Amino acid sequence: MRTPVEGFSKLTKEEKINWIATQYTSNPEVAKSVLKRYWNTNSYVQKVHDEFIENTISNYYLPFAIAPNFLINDTLYALPMAIEESSVVAAASKAAKFWLNKGGFKTTIVGTEKVGQVHFMYKGDKEKLERFFKTHKNAFFDDAKTITQSMEKRGGGISSVRLIDKTDSIENYYQLHCTFQTMDAMGANFINSCLEQFAKTLKQKAAVYDRFSSQEGSIEIVMSILSNYVPNCVVRAEVSCPLNNLDEAGLSGIDFAKKMVQAVNIAKIEPYRAVTHNKGIMNGIDAVVLATGNDFRAVEAGVHAYAAKDGRYSSLTHAVIENGEFRFWIELPLALGTVGGLTSLHPMVKLALEILQKPTAEELMQIVAVAGLAQNFAALRSLVTTGIQKGHMKMHLLNMLNQLGATEEEKERLVDYFKDTVVTNASVKEALKKIKAD
Ligand code: HMG
Repeated sequence: MRTPVEGFSKLTKEEKINWIATQYTSNPEVAKSVLKRYWNTNSYVQKVHDEFIENTISNYYLPFAIAPNFLINDTLYALPMAIEESSVVAAASKAAKFWLNKGGFKTTIVGTEKVGQVHFMYKGDKEKLERFFKTHKNAFFDDAKTITQSMEKRGGGISSVRLIDKTDSIENYYQLHCTFQTMDAMGANFINSCLEQFAKTLKQKAAVYDRFSSQEGSIEIVMSILSNYVPNCVVRAEVSCPLNNLDEAGLSGIDFAKKMVQAVNIAKIEPYRAVTHNKGIMNGIDAVVLATGNDFRAVEAGVHAYAAKDGRYSSLTHAVIENGEFRFWIELPLALGTVGGLTSLHPMVKLALEILQKPTAEELMQIVAVAGLAQNFAALRSLVTTGIQKGHMKMHLLNMLNQLGATEEEKERLVDYFKDTVVTNASVKEALKKIKAD
């Protein structure tokens, strides 16, 4: 019978491991040995990892891979990708190679505005609140000066603070809706510090505003927090080429382009398809976001909200045939940082950023958008020609063979055999059985 634990956070790492292994696993010695096998042999590196989060007992590895040959705005990049799913890196690499001699990827930053809100309750006359806000608007900027000084030196800071009436939706509910420029930082800490200061200023100034009744002056702050929805922090990435450059998998350029456009159009109007379509895009986005130490949960939440911005969940990519050309592009919000957070702490993140030639946050937005576009191109290319399973299962073969306990020699022979044989669970099992019987 398990019992709750008191003071788990205060146990040593060894004690935490002993507790979890004995309470929750069938073979504690095996569990302990698995956990310890994933410790880094360098005690400094391990300590850094231990301190990223709380109650750390081991590390959880993801493969770190490289997708080369990305020509982005005439500069050649090799993209670091951290992801567990087979065929994603191969697909990205194949798409990069495809567009390499067709002008590569072109990108533009549409905007870099970040958002945060102070949510509060005000019981009283709306016009008085508006007058109060107008009178004290500068105080929000002035009182936050100590927080914003360094960011302003780098060219960023608070861009706007607006009062929003939300009483249509919730009685007495108002917001300070604030926008920021955070330069190369993702900016979460900066924004949240500013917002908490805005909340203080709001409460203090309201308490002594002589036109408010005592009820009006007692503003109730509900919370102050950044928004991960950043519809004005948007990047666009595009590829295009003449149709006669586009022959693919036995299809003429025009037929291939038409199929690609159809596939994108289906994802635009059919949410069941759009979710999978965008999942494929996120294969590329998340892998680079993760490799560069950025917050993929924030990116995911913001991107999917953006995909539904017109009232229906839809495709993040777009495709048209125009003047004899195929044009394929993505537009999405990405709040990323190349300073702060894990960027100077995690050795692999530092290396990933070095591989990307130490990009600014804007450059990283462009690279990440390209990773998403490339991934979508590769997936759609397979879907509208050979079907997804052919390439995906080919890449998954080693996982299947490892699961079936194939030896290195057997793996080598079977990889060779499956070069021109269809990979399915059954065909792999059968081929391995045959080899073992030889
Ligand atoms: P292929 O034509 O068999 O590859 O494609 P190839 O052997 O002719 O090689 C061509 C290039 O592909 C290589 O060039 C590499 O760039 C890359 P090279 O390096 O030789 O100069 N490539 C590889 N890179 C690294 N390791 C490898 C490797 N093999 C090829 N082993 C491929 C095979 C898998 C690339 C192709 O079939 C493909 O792009 N398939 C799409 C796979 C995909 O989208 N996977 C994502 C997971 S499925 C999913 O979750 C998303 C989805 O549901 C989204 C949606 O529905 O929209 C599909």
